Amino acid sequence: MKGAMAAAALIPLVALLFSVSSAYPALSTSGQLDPHFYDDSCPKAQQIVASIVGKAHYQDPRMAASLLRLHFHDCFVKGCDASILLDSSGSIVSEKRSNPNKDSARGFEVVDEIKSALEAACPGTVSCADILALVARDSVVMTGGPGWIVPLGRRDSRGASVQGSNNDIPAPNNTLPTIITKFKLQGLDIVDLVALLGSHTIGDSRCTSFRQRLYNQTGNGLPDNKLDVSYAAALRPRCPRSGGDQNLFFLDPVTPFKFDNQYYKNLLAYRGLLASDEVLFTDSPATAELVKLYAANQDIFFQHFAQSMVKMGKISPLTGANGEIRKVCRRVNHN
Ligand code: HEM
Ligand SMILES: *[C@@H]1O[C@H](CO)[C@@H](O)[C@H](O)[C@H]1NC(C)=O
Ligand SMILES: *[C@@H]1O[C@H](CO)[C@@H](O)[C@H](O)[C@H]1NC(C)=O
Repeated sequence: MKGAMAAAALIPLVALLFSVSSAYPALSTSGQLDPHFYDDSCPKAQQIVASIVGKAHYQDPRMAASLLRLHFHDCFVKGCDASILLDSSGSIVSEKRSNPNKDSARGFEVVDEIKSALEAACPGTVSCADILALVARDSVVMTGGPGWIVPLGRRDSRGASVQGSNNDIPAPNNTLPTIITKFKLQGLDIVDLVALLGSHTIGDSRCTSFRQRLYNQTGNGLPDNKLDVSYAAALRPRCPRSGGDQNLFFLDPVTPFKFDNQYYKNLLAYRGLLASDEVLFTDSPATAELVKLYAANQDIFFQHFAQSMVKMGKISPLTGANGEIRKVCRRVNHN
């Protein structure tokens, strides 16, 4: 029954996705990646991905957020090469063990289901890294955000870097200069930073990722003075001084499942959940101007977001004869 309803609900989602995508021109051309990469070798690839993302989104409204985040956590660690998807085995230590991913990154079963369907349709053809890029776009579209054309042709890594995952992905208590530096190291500027952080308009955070703000932000025993007092009070019961580490909170409690510009409106009201969110508004005039722009104009936010997602998706891809097309996203082909 639920399955039949999911299938019925999917058709308009898939139709929406393709009408939105084809209405947009390619945002920029890449030297190596090409939106038409699978046109001949796996013409149904994008439909297969979209239909499984649609089903997963229907079954779990948080899943779109979790899938979007996987592409970010993949691309920031040695490029968009699906390294985040590898489980530990042999010499590989899984990035799933890193601080940013442990007890937090999710959606791997959805990626597995997509990969099985693609292997059945076109064996050994569509990379896990491209699946993550497509899934990120579909997740944004299905929650009401912008569409964009996804450049394709990434290949998959033969290794992982738990150290890279710990060091290169920004932490929620990093200072704004540190965050800006970590984005710059990936070739991303402050427009990319402020636009991409708009992803926090959907999805959840655990208490442990922002607790420090509620009680002792700077070591003086006081809460973060960049956090609205009544919002902090509302967060404390389920995020006590100790315990409740894994309790979940919406990153955007106003419209938690809608991809919109509410995140930026929250920042203007000192209601960003993570310290790393609020500092975009409080700690630099340049980023604050962008926060105000996106809070006032959702269309510009959507345009910049789509452009920056394409840019993030081009971080150091493996192409040509480099890497491989994994058969199963959780392991390398020969190990
Ligand atoms: C300064 C950069 C960033 C920091 C410090 C950061 C940090 C975080 C943290 C701490 C969480 C909650 C994790 C947990 O407690 O389980 C989170 C969730 C999330 N992040 Fe970020 N993030 C950043 C940038 C991004 C970017 C660039 C994207 C996407 C392009 C993104 C997408 C998401 C999404 C969608 C969620 C919700 C995931 C879910 O509900 O499963 N984040 N982020
Ligand atoms: C940031 O959070 C990590 C993990 O909870 C912690 O070890 C570190 O001390 C924090 N850094 C600062 C500057 O508060
Ligand atoms: C706040 O943190 C500082 C430094 O980490 C610590 O010395 C102090 O005891 C803490 N204060 C409270 C009230 O928890």
